[in-house]
Amino acid sequence: MRGAAVCLSVLLCFFISGMLVHATDTPKEDSDALFERKCSVCHKIDRPKSQRKTQEEWKNTVIRMKNIHRAPITDEETKVIVDYLSSAYPRYMRVPYTGG
Ligand code: HEC
Repeated sequence: MRGAAVCLSVLLCFFISGMLVHATDTPKEDSDALFERKCSVCHKIDRPKSQRKTQEEWKNTVIRMKNIHRAPITDEETKVIVDYLSSAYPRYMRVPYTGG
């Protein structure tokens, strides 16, 4: 019985903190819109857009923007932006096989 009560209150905590987060959150935007908004503050958006990097390299770049240059992005946004960049601007473009 005690186990169930603890379990319930933990769930309740998640539920309430979830509501608090959402209450202050701006409506969810697309990852590309988030990237363009956050990464065009100090330099042109062309700066990252002209680069091709692996996921690891994008991660290092975004973390450098955040930690060294003080880009105002949260850890969660860092993850979203890194995921977006490494699929939209990957180091190795996949070239379709044309046969021959
Ligand atoms: C607070 C200011 C600031 C913000 C916000 C910012 N940057 Fe930068 N960025 C810089 C500065 C300063 C440089 C040049 C020095 C350097 O490369 O570290 C730079 C350079 C770059 C470069 C070129 C160098 C390289 O490593 O290829 C890329 C790419 C880049 N930024 C991507 C981003 C991305 C992606 C974001 C969004 C997550 C972002 N920046 C947000 C300040 C910022």
